[in-house]
Amino acid sequence: MSRLIIASNRLPLKVEKHNNKYSATASAGGLATGLKSYHKNNDSVWIGWPGIIANSDTDKEEITEIIKKEQCLPVFLTEALIDGFYDGFSNATLWPLFHYFVEYTRFNDQYWEAYYKVNQMFAEAILENAKDGDTVWVHDYQLLLVPNMLREKCPNLKIGFFLHIPFPSYEVFRILPWREELLTGILGADLIGFHTYDYARHFNSSVKRLLGHEIEFSNVNLDNRQVHIDVFPMGIDYEKFESCALAVQSKPIQERSKQHQDIDRFLLGGPDRHLILSIDRLDYSKGIPERLKAFKCFLQKYPEYIEKVSLLMLTVPSRTDVEEYQNLKTEVDVLVGGINGEFGTLNWNPVIYFYRSLPFENLIELYSSADIALLTPLRDGMNLVAKEYIASKVNQKGVLILSEMTGASKELGEAISVNPNNINYTADAIYRALTLSDEERIRAVKTMQKRIKRYDVHKWASEFIKSLNKTTKKQEEHKARKISPKIKELIIFDYKKEKQKTIFLDYDGTLQRFFNNPQDAKPDEELYKLLDKLAAKENTNLVLISGRDKDTFDKWFGNRKYNLIAEHGAWKRELGSDWIERKAVHDEWKDNILPVLESYVDRTPGSLIENKTYSLVWHYRKSDIELGALRALELVTDISNLIINQDLEILEGSKVIEIKVAGINKGIAASEYLMNHKSDFVMAMGDDWTDEFLFKELPAKAHTIKVGTGNSVAKYYVNTYRDVRNFLSDIL
Ligand code: UDP
Ligand code: G6P
Repeated sequence: MSRLIIASNRLPLKVEKHNNKYSATASAGGLATGLKSYHKNNDSVWIGWPGIIANSDTDKEEITEIIKKEQCLPVFLTEALIDGFYDGFSNATLWPLFHYFVEYTRFNDQYWEAYYKVNQMFAEAILENAKDGDTVWVHDYQLLLVPNMLREKCPNLKIGFFLHIPFPSYEVFRILPWREELLTGILGADLIGFHTYDYARHFNSSVKRLLGHEIEFSNVNLDNRQVHIDVFPMGIDYEKFESCALAVQSKPIQERSKQHQDIDRFLLGGPDRHLILSIDRLDYSKGIPERLKAFKCFLQKYPEYIEKVSLLMLTVPSRTDVEEYQNLKTEVDVLVGGINGEFGTLNWNPVIYFYRSLPFENLIELYSSADIALLTPLRDGMNLVAKEYIASKVNQKGVLILSEMTGASKELGEAISVNPNNINYTADAIYRALTLSDEERIRAVKTMQKRIKRYDVHKWASEFIKSLNKTTKKQEEHKARKISPKIKELIIFDYKKEKQKTIFLDYDGTLQRFFNNPQDAKPDEELYKLLDKLAAKENTNLVLISGRDKDTFDKWFGNRKYNLIAEHGAWKRELGSDWIERKAVHDEWKDNILPVLESYVDRTPGSLIENKTYSLVWHYRKSDIELGALRALELVTDISNLIINQDLEILEGSKVIEIKVAGINKGIAASEYLMNHKSDFVMAMGDDWTDEFLFKELPAKAHTIKVGTGNSVAKYYVNTYRDVRNFLSDIL
């Protein structure tokens, strides 16, 4: 039976050593807390770092025993690896950069080496436990290289990858010296998931710009397979939070925990007492100083709340060996002390500050008792705390103030949204939250509860796995149509057996790779030799069929013994005769279209116009990849309006938009050719969608072969123009 292997740096439990004895506590952080409910209910294995250094084999065994009880397996890291991989590349390079803290980002080759090494260790540990057909779900920025390391060693694994933090804009990501390696690492997966559309969009943009891969309908076309990109906003174990909150709140006061009784005492300690809560790891991405400044500003602006409102701030120690985290701790200590010193009274502390983590039940007491949750990250991939607060607010009388820079804000539209950098506005948001009517609070919380209850962590994980299965199934279908040695043999057998044969070959992308400048894609010696030999074969019609202009084709192949079809069939030159024009048409239509294309050239640097007999072509391969695609969409809309009721059509090829006289395409041209040259064996190869006309029109028994991984009606696929050349030489 195939099974699920989860891999993340942080396991759901962290091993600690006290009095020479090992024990485990729950890890904090969204990935571990969110995913552990799913893991618990499924027969999965979770591979990760147990959070402690093991000095001997006995220690390793003991630690392994402890975590095995929770279906976890360890990857042990030495102190040096923790320095370079965890404190270094993960948390001093990737974390700050992906959260847009460019000034904190360190570039260090030793960090990179340690990161590479640890990713390799994870890949090995996974492979020791995985077999063909198993599903491996790799998580987060610490393991970006793992998917491709797995793919290289075990191509038949189903590999999913999920990023729990933001993926930054291309302008920021490109700063990384190891950017291509990281993207290639992630693209080893079959499915890549992000919390929000923006992160997915940024990732796609980097893939296109840095690696040059085409992306079609959220699928990255690699040479040999497609990778699917999608958005899955992570949910929480709603039921767990709701039921625990109900249990905690329904306990009689005297049976409540000490902490809960303290909260009760605070709330009842004076008229109109209110508790504002924040919970986060002590991380500069969480906007903790900004929150404190906003709270101070609130007390200054609205002094009537002095002695009535406290901010309870639970900050969990995190990455304490990284300098920026140490500096932040000092900064927060000073700010808290400052506010308490300035505003505190004998019976009231404006800021109640905990620097530790709390057991689950205590967290629920905080969530369910607090009147307001004030969460102000400067950047946050998701922020599960926001969802946990809403789920725990069982009487619905709560208000969520949430930074618009969090992934969660996309789903929690009923929260009071703030830009955490706007201190004054955030202070006013606190005031607003305090003055909302019960009706308004309940309405907003109920709506959010409904939403996060429906898309909880179980749904999130099962949707991801479902989509991964769908993606790999599609790949299987694609693989089945890939030309295997067996299929190749059958086609060659057919070729040899039949009497009269015709081979249609597209040119750009099929026999030759793409160049930025189309004129640079001229045939090389190897190609001439190959085609010459093919054309010389007995009873074989070699037809080059292309959208290329007639003059270029004539220049390149005019003195060769090939049949030529240029400009999608507007021109043909059969062996032994001269070029024939398909039909004489007027070309006054170009007078209207040309100025439009020129305006696109002016506004799209790198693009150019080609004027062919029957068509005008706008090329944008050399333009900025995203601007080009956007302009291409606009151009198609503009031109569609202009050509209504004219005998014209628009073709979208590979980085070209062609406006041409209707009734001319490769399919029609090929059919006509076959009418005049009866063939028992027909084969066609092409790479872009202008070749789809060809594949569609050919007789049912024709061997149609698509170059690349995009969708096609062709019967078979090969990966690149190199495979086409190899295939053709095998026919010889
Ligand atoms: N958390 C915890 N113990 C604590 C405080 C917080 O386990 O003492 C959990 C909290 O319940 C939440 C997670 O830590 O599930 C924080 O996740 P979030 O997505 O908000 O932020 P991250 O730490 O992942 O950046
Ligand atoms: C974020 C990251 C997780 C990480 C967690 C806690 O949620 O996305 O990958 O586990 O923070 O950080 P830590 O460094 O303690 O694992």
